[in-house]
Amino acid sequence: MSTAIDSPLITLEHGTAPRAEGVAVPQLGLGTYKVDPGEARRVVVEGLELGYRHVDTAQMYGNEDGVGAALAESNVERADLWVTSKLNNPNHRRDDALASFERTMDDLRLDVLDLFLVHWPLAESEGIDLVDTWRTMIEILGTGRVRAIGVSNFRAEHLRRVVDATGVVPAVNQVELHPYLQQRELRAVHDELGIVTESWSPLGRGHLLTDPVLGEVAAEAGATPAQAIIAWHLAHGLVVIPKSTHRDRLAENAASLSVRLTDEQLARLDALERDQRFGSHPDRVQV
Ligand code: A2P
Repeated sequence: MSTAIDSPLITLEHGTAPRAEGVAVPQLGLGTYKVDPGEARRVVVEGLELGYRHVDTAQMYGNEDGVGAALAESNVERADLWVTSKLNNPNHRRDDALASFERTMDDLRLDVLDLFLVHWPLAESEGIDLVDTWRTMIEILGTGRVRAIGVSNFRAEHLRRVVDATGVVPAVNQVELHPYLQQRELRAVHDELGIVTESWSPLGRGHLLTDPVLGEVAAEAGATPAQAIIAWHLAHGLVVIPKSTHRDRLAENAASLSVRLTDEQLARLDALERDQRFGSHPDRVQV
């Protein structure tokens, strides 16, 4: 059995089943966006061998079956693993969402999922209200087959609408977030509502790795650029899910847990904000 990496845990304040206390997500996880279906099994097997205990996937990625195969063959105790998946876009209507969730569970070969997210706030494009999708998520939570529910790519107004209508606060909002797109206003809303922030494309799809300021900070910290960025996410209390298909990089990214940046180094990375996205904008995403 492999040894788990020493990731801090972040306790979810909301969006968990009533009486479910102390539901906590490992802060550093393994992202699988753009991991080909044919490679997902190997990548997740290697991730688990290297000690990752949090795997983030989505029906939209088309790789849940490979992720599920890796989970099934792993000898890591289920209780020691955290698995997140996401409701695919064309499936926001209640019956479609319930069927979509069943497919996810079949592909992942799980009885209980740790976290299920609404992938994009696109219910309206299917002619229904975002709140109705959120009500279906609450229904799924009520079945006991997920430990927590949350959202992804929601803007502040989306969050407030679902909270005002249902009183159930999403456990997390997973958004594109890295030093070039720090989402400070949205993070303030998350803090106000008690929502945990998760960073997708935490390395800016790799585009940030050649930034000269980052290079300097990384060199001073005795870290690689990828490690310095991941350490920045960790220091800001963000759940971070870097993706790599390379075993050596998976190990490198996991070792970010022992990288400590000074306040001054963090401030230099904070100063890189430039409102630059590498992924889709929630208002303009194509489905
Ligand atoms: P690869 O999968 O070929 O290793 P993000 O998580 O922000 O979307 O970034 C993922 C991108 O960054 C992928 O292109 C991935 O490439 C690359 N990447 C991940 N970890 C590292 C690393 N430690 N060093 C260099 N590139 C990395």
